[in-house]
Amino acid sequence: MKGLILSGGKGTRLYPLTFTSAKQLIPVANKPVLFRVIESIHDAGIDEIGIVVGDTAPEIKQAVGNGSRWGVKITYIHQEAPLGLAHAVKISRDFLGDDRFVMFLGDNVIQGGISRLIEQFADSSWNSQIVLTEVAHPEQYGVAELDEEGRIVRLVEKPKVPPSNLALVGIYMFDHHIFEAVNAITPSWRGELEITDAIQWLVEQGYDVYPYIHRGWWIDTGRPGDMLEANSLVLEELQPHIDGYVDRESVVDSRVTVEQGAEVINSVIRGPAIIGRNTRIVNAYVGPFTSIYHDCLIRDSEIERSIVLEHSRIEALPARIQDSLIGRHVVITQSPVRPKAIRLTLGDYSNLGLL
Ligand code: DAU
Repeated sequence: MKGLILSGGKGTRLYPLTFTSAKQLIPVANKPVLFRVIESIHDAGIDEIGIVVGDTAPEIKQAVGNGSRWGVKITYIHQEAPLGLAHAVKISRDFLGDDRFVMFLGDNVIQGGISRLIEQFADSSWNSQIVLTEVAHPEQYGVAELDEEGRIVRLVEKPKVPPSNLALVGIYMFDHHIFEAVNAITPSWRGELEITDAIQWLVEQGYDVYPYIHRGWWIDTGRPGDMLEANSLVLEELQPHIDGYVDRESVVDSRVTVEQGAEVINSVIRGPAIIGRNTRIVNAYVGPFTSIYHDCLIRDSEIERSIVLEHSRIEALPARIQDSLIGRHVVITQSPVRPKAIRLTLGDYSNLGLL
C-alpha cells in the first residue's frame, strides 16, 4: 500500500498564523501535525508516501525533506490551487498507480494511530474504507447516513441539516476504482471536487465501501480552539522526560517534558506540559496543557493551556495568559515607558482578548 497526505490548501481559519506558514506545520505538543501524520502512516508499515502541496510547498519541503528521517520515501505532488480533496487524488494518479492507498488529511490528529485500520483494509476485498466518528457539530464536516445494518446509505458534505452525527474523519482508504469516481463527479457549490461526492459515487455504482466507526478522540485542527484541544489530548498521552536543566528552586511535576537545552529557573510547571529545546522559563508559572516550542523565553509571567511557537518572548506580564495560540517571533511584555498604555503591533486578522 501507499500513503497520500494532503497538505495543500490555505488554512484561512488559522489566520494570522498561517499567513506566512503552512497550517500542517503548526506543532501540537511540540511536533508539527504533519510529522504526526507521517509517523502514523509509517507505523502502519507504509514507506512510500506522496504529499500533495500548494502555495506553502517550499516550507513543507524544507521541514519534511525526502523522508529519510522517518525511513520513508516522500514524493511531492504539486496542486496548482486547492480545488478539492478529490482533485488532489486525481492529480496523484501517476504516483499511486494501481496500488491500494490510504489518504490522510495533513491537519488531522487521531488517537491510537491507523495500523489496525490499514491491516483490516489491506486484507479485505473492499474497494474503500472510510472512518466515521460521532461529533457534536456534524454540519462542519462530511456526514454519513447508515442503515440499520450499518451500511452506507448516503454521504453529504457539510449539510445544513445533518442526517446523523457521524462525521467523516480525514482518513480514507481506496483501491484504483476511486479514479473512476473522481473523473465522474463535478465541482460542488464551493467550487471543489469533493471526496465525499466521489465516495457517494462509489456507493451508487455498487462498489464496496466499508464504514469503520472510530471510538477514540479525533481532531481536525482547522481552528485555533481545535489546535488547543488537540494539544491537550496529545499532551495527556505523552511519555514525559526531562532532558534539560531544572534548578533546585523550581517545582516541576511528573507529567512535564523538558527538552534538551531548555532551562527552568525558579519556576513552577504543572503538567501535562512541554518545554521545547533551548527555551528558558524564568521566575514563571506554566500551567497544564501548555506547549512552549523551541528558543522561547517566559520570564516573570504566567501561562496556561496555550501553545507558544518558536522564538517568542513573554516577559513581566501583570495577568495570566490562558487559552492562547501565540505565533513565531512574538514579543509580549509590559512596557516600562510612560504613559501607561497598551502598545501593539498586531498582524492582520490577529485576535486579542484584553482584561
Ligand atoms: O477533517 C475532516 C473533514 O475534512 C471531512 O469531514 C470533510 O468531509 C472533508 O471535506 C474535509 O473538510 P475540510 O473543509 O476540513 O477540508 P480542508 O479544506 O480543511 O482540507 C483538509 C486538508 O486537505 C488540509 O490539510 C488542506 C488539504 N487540501 C485541501 C484542499 C481543499 C489540499 O491539499 N488540497 C485541496 O484542494
